[in-house]
Amino acid sequence: MHYTKEEIENLSKVKRLNLINSISGIKPANLIGTISSEEQSNLAIFSSIVHLGSNPALLGFILRPTIDVPRHTYQNILDNSCYTINHVTAAHTHQAHYTSAKFDKHISEFEACGFTEEYLFGFNAPFVKESKIKMGMKFKEAIPIQSNNTVLIIGQVHHLVIPENVMNAEGQLDLDKADNAGISGLNNYYSLTKVANYPYARVHELPKFNSKQ
Ligand SMILES: Cc1cc2nc3c(=O)[nH]c(=O)nc-3n(C[C@H](O)[C@H](O)[C@H](O)COP(=O)(O)O)c2cc1C
Repeated sequence: MHYTKEEIENLSKVKRLNLINSISGIKPANLIGTISSEEQSNLAIFSSIVHLGSNPALLGFILRPTIDVPRHTYQNILDNSCYTINHVTAAHTHQAHYTSAKFDKHISEFEACGFTEEYLFGFNAPFVKESKIKMGMKFKEAIPIQSNNTVLIIGQVHHLVIPENVMNAEGQLDLDKADNAGISGLNNYYSLTKVANYPYARVHELPKFNSKQ
């Protein structure tokens, strides 16, 4: 199959949305936990979390346009700066998926979707008790993306919670051991299996991939 730009533009809205949401490959499955100024907790699934840099430790995520649909996560982040990012385990994908429904702002997706709020380190946002790997984040900046009215939200890591058996001495995480899930598109969830661990790639240590080398 081959699709040109014009053919992509002529696809039905749903088919284009599914295809283009899937085409970048496996995305991380995370739940963002926040709390409003009225102390109403909120939880929503986000697959666009991306590493931006390690020093300072920054992560970003893409927020859909806020023009027509109120985004509770974003409003809470703007109101109190704190939010948590919690990895979804393969055992919790069903519940996690339904946090994407457009709940009224007075309803907590923690309660509606069967997750447990966990308040740690005096941090002003709820962590997800059922998640094994979790981060406490503080908002740094929001960068509008003019091409499609989305926003890149950038935050700094203030707390990291990682099970002992998941991290090695060099700080590498084995997500297989954390029972982590991945996402394709907006509806398909995968469990992750580690296939290899390789050293830092140096030209003078190149393995013999090519018989002519
Ligand atoms: C698998 C999946 C991934 C999603 N990823 C994102 C995302 O990266 N960015 C986004 O703005 N919305 C994403 N959504 C939609 C939000 O979960 C949805 O808009 C949710 O209602 C936001 O909740 P809030 O209004 O409480 O913030 C995703 C939905 C699903 C099902």
